[in-house]
Amino acid sequence: MAQLKTWQDRHLLGLKGMGKEEIESILDRAEYWANYPQKQTSHLSGRFVANMFFENSTRTRFSFEMAQKRLGMQVLNFTAAVSSVEKGESIYDTVRTLESMGIDAGVIRLKPSGVLEHIARQVSIPLINAGDGNNEHPTQALLDLYTMRQHFGSLQGLSVSIIGDIQHSRVARSNLWALKAVGAKVRFCAPDNMRALELADEVDYVSMDEALQADVVMMLRVQLERHEHGKLASAEEYRSQYGLTVEREKLLKDHAIIMHPAPVNRNVEIDDELVEHPRAKIFTQMQNGVPIRMAVTERALS
Ligand code: CP
Repeated sequence: MAQLKTWQDRHLLGLKGMGKEEIESILDRAEYWANYPQKQTSHLSGRFVANMFFENSTRTRFSFEMAQKRLGMQVLNFTAAVSSVEKGESIYDTVRTLESMGIDAGVIRLKPSGVLEHIARQVSIPLINAGDGNNEHPTQALLDLYTMRQHFGSLQGLSVSIIGDIQHSRVARSNLWALKAVGAKVRFCAPDNMRALELADEVDYVSMDEALQADVVMMLRVQLERHEHGKLASAEEYRSQYGLTVEREKLLKDHAIIMHPAPVNRNVEIDDELVEHPRAKIFTQMQNGVPIRMAVTERALS
């Protein structure tokens, strides 16, 4: 893996600013772990990690735990709902509490954006971002790039359309930074009221017809839990204008693949019949989450 200069470089807070060499070295290491003959190793035995999820998760949480256990680590799982957070304890105090008990690294998912960077400056252990607000979801984007590279062989020049609720999507942001760094061409497609205005200089928005003409069509979940009232007029209207329907799938290039970070709103952003379509990589993405999270956990503790 690429050499890190200071211990703070072992944090993985986001992909903005990370270079092609470092991204590709993480993907290479994930490939090593994906092909590793044994399911469990003693590579990081005797090291302790806490998974601190202040927001719900299935894929990220369990694939981190799977990755850590495959590396032989001792794993502590923290769930906000049954913790002293319910008594009003802050995120910072929670992280400092686990740090004081001797964990070697922390994986954190948070509802707000911007808090994680602040905490990372105040602790002495590496932190890995498991998704913070609408800011970044670096391990999701890394597993997405891994899946694209696995399928196409290279990321250079690949055209990727990211379609849907961009405004609320940390996945779109992390993918944008990482895909640009490795030489892929990214375009966004979203309803006017789901665009990210602060990214207007970074990426072009295109129509749905244009977005479908890409090597990778990545659909995003409509994040109803983050919407103010009235943003989504109706699921059926959204599907008819921005959903990947069975009819639209027929317009894709022959070699194109379909991706989605999941969880999926079936028959809203993607039709039920397409979730396990031969072109769809949704469950492959989930499978690839484990070796990617092995690689980033190892990077944090190397
Ligand atoms: N893709 C993703 O982050 O899924 P979870 O919210 O289930 O972790």
